[in-house]
Order: sequence, then structure tokens, then C-alpha cells
Amino acid sequence: MIDHLAHLRPDPNGIHSDGIPTAALEAPPLESTVNGVGDQVDPFTQKIEAWWRRTQETKSNDLYYYFQAVDALEGPWVHTEGKRKLMFATYSYLGLINHPRIVAAAKAAADKYGTGTHGVRILGGTLDLHARMERTIAEFTRREEAIVYSSGYVTNLATVSTIVGRGDWVFSDRWNHASIVDGCLLARGKFVRFRHNDMDDLEKQLRRAPESAGKLVIADAVFSMDGDIFNLPAAFDLCRRYKARLMLDEAHSIGVLGKTGHGIEEHFDMYGSIDLKMGTLSKTIPGIGGYIAGSAKLVTYLRHTARGFVFSAALPPAVAAAITEGFHVLEDEGVERNRILTCNARQFISGLQAAGFDTGLTESPIVPIMVGTEERALAMTKYCQDNGIFVLPVLPPAVKEGTARLRANVTAAHTAEDIEFALGVFIQAGRLVGVID
Ligand SMILES: Cc1ncc(COP(=O)(O)O)c(C=O)c1O
Repeated sequence: MIDHLAHLRPDPNGIHSDGIPTAALEAPPLESTVNGVGDQVDPFTQKIEAWWRRTQETKSNDLYYYFQAVDALEGPWVHTEGKRKLMFATYSYLGLINHPRIVAAAKAAADKYGTGTHGVRILGGTLDLHARMERTIAEFTRREEAIVYSSGYVTNLATVSTIVGRGDWVFSDRWNHASIVDGCLLARGKFVRFRHNDMDDLEKQLRRAPESAGKLVIADAVFSMDGDIFNLPAAFDLCRRYKARLMLDEAHSIGVLGKTGHGIEEHFDMYGSIDLKMGTLSKTIPGIGGYIAGSAKLVTYLRHTARGFVFSAALPPAVAAAITEGFHVLEDEGVERNRILTCNARQFISGLQAAGFDTGLTESPIVPIMVGTEERALAMTKYCQDNGIFVLPVLPPAVKEGTARLRANVTAAHTAEDIEFALGVFIQAGRLVGVID
């Protein structure tokens, strides 16, 4: 029997991959052949055919909500495939997409420099816009220097695999994002995973490493599936005690944590505690790219040795300019937008909890609505999508068996009325599928 839910399962190893299906799934054996009955089907065809059948089957069951094309934005509302939906599957936490200052900066850069660059940064691809962008990030993060890669994914992949060489050890939280996991897999050192946010386990693992080994501890600052916050104070102490470097991924904490949106160091009042400060430029900052901020020596090392940087083209001028202006807007408007975001998250989470929903460990605008089984998650998603809410499910093994959920991200662009409307739909859906009474 074809498992028409299988393509929605993101990862076979329980590795978080941001709820996105990965190609790592084992394809089931084909029941019929592509090349004719009885023909031997090669392994590539098997994989490709299995995915084809799964997506077709899921579409025909009206359960496929990936790749919906948005053709118009109206604040937090989007127009897609002829319908207007309130967006809860966005990372635009402070609602900066379409901010006039950022759009104007991007347009001016395209007018002046065109749409591309001359290649990789280290050769002819660096514009003054790139230098300004990296200086702005260094200042925002209060570090000497910053290096920008072409995506957040590449930033983790290239940085971890460059830093962690033969004989080194990397200690990665079990709930870390797939890009970190992939960086660890690519690295030549020893890859160790510690239990999620469990500092006793982290210490146990650190003790196993030889004293002389280079040690890197790495985690998401805010975990992308559950919205909980990494225990920076305890991890910082352990890193100092065991002479380990600390790298945190601030994809979901920039703009979100701290009263001014400066992230996890502001949240814990621990500025300067992270050795490699990683962030993405595709979430609160509405562009694309990722950065590492740190000492001038660290960044110089990465600029000359990180293959994902050295051998990949520079960001387009419009993006570099948008990112720079995005950080300036964050400095200017972060406090007020963060206040609204916090208010909205509180309204949403307390409304869900009052209705009887389990919202897991969240301490942020990433709100998991725990529903247990995949069937319930898919049925709830369908009800929400059919009734004006753009939200997507997260299913095992991306998350533990029995912890399927809808992941709803609140933003500062939502109004109190939007949140009330969404609560009404989620509650109705929850009742319909039996998640709440
Ligand atoms: C924690 C985390 N790190 C890294 C990334 C990758 O960033 P990007 O999408 O900018 O490549 C993501 C993406 O969602 C993420 O959630």
C-alpha cells in the first residue's frame, strides 16, 4: 500500500529539518515498473518514481499544501491560488517584508549596480555594499567583524565543516537545525549529539573529549520547531570550564529576543558570551543570506578558508542593500515592533491554552500546536487552510513520534483582530478533529 503521508515526513533520523520534507527518505519498492512490467528499475528511477507517486496521491487526497504560490501581500494576509489567507507560516517576525525604507534601498542598489555581481567575493564580486553590510552586522552584533554567506544553510554548513577539523570534537544539540547537522556531518572531526537543552548531558559529552582536542558546542538560540530558548548561561559556564568554543544560531532570535531585538545575548544580558555568532538574513531581516560575527581573526580565517564562501558568488546588490537597511530599521523600530510581537505571541498562546491546546515548550512567537497524530495534524491543517489560515504541519520523524503538531508563527504584523480570527479557526479545527473538547 502506498503511504501517502510519507512524503510529508521530513527526516528519517529524527533530525530537525525545519518541517520540510527531505530527499533522505528510503523509497519503498515499486509495485509497478516504469520501464514495463517485469523490467529491472534502476535505483534512481525508483526514488524519483516513489516521490512522484507520493506527491500525486497526496494532492489527489487534497492534503498537499506545500509550494502554494503567493501572488499578493496585504500586511500579514496573503493571496494564494485565488484565496486570501492570514499567514502563520512566515519567519517575518517583525513584519519587515515590504518595509518602504528597505524596498527603496534595494531599488536604489539595483539602479546603480544592476542585478548581479562579478562573481565570488574574494575575487571580483565585492561591492562597497557588501563591505557596508558586513560592517553593519558587526556593529549590530557588537563584534569586530562579520562574514556574509549566500544563505543561512550555507553559513552553518561551511562554517562548521571549516572550523571542525580532524581531531576536533563538535557537540550539537539534538534539536538543532538541519543545516547545523549537515555541517557536523561534513566536518572531519568527531560529531557528538547531546540531549536537547540538557546541560548535564552536554557536560558528560564534553568530559569524553581529550583535553587537547578543539571543542565546539553548537545550538539554535531559539529552536525552530518548539520555540524554546537555549540555556546560554549554563552552556557558557561549561564552555569556559572545558575550554570549548560556543556557536549559536540566531535565525529565530534576532528581532525576537531582547527588548530591542538583539537576540539571545540581550535576553540573558550576556553580551559577548558567544564565540561564533551565527544568524540568518531571511527571517526578521527580509533578504537572503547568513552571517558569522566574531573576532577579526576568526572572520579573516573564514573569509579565506570556508569553501561555501570562497567558491560561491556574492549576494546581489539589491539584497546586500536591503540587508543593511533592514538592520538600520531594526535599530530604529525594533523596540516598538518587538513590543507588539511579544503582545501578539502572548495573546495567541494564552488563547490557545485557554481553549485547552498544548503549546509545548514555547517561549517565543514560534507556537507549536500539539495534536499528537499525523492524521489529526493533516486534518487540522486542511480545515485551517480551507478557512483562511495559512499554516503547515510538522510530522514525525522531524519531531518525535506522537508529537505531530501545527507550527504557527506569530508576527508583529498581525493585529489583535487577526489573532482573534485565527484563534477562532484553530479552536474550531481542534474541536472538529478531537484535539480539544
Ligand atoms: C535555525 C535555522 N538555521 C538556519 C536556517 C537556514 O537559513 P536559510 O533559510 O536562510 O538558509 C534555518 C531556516 O529556516 C533555521 O531555522
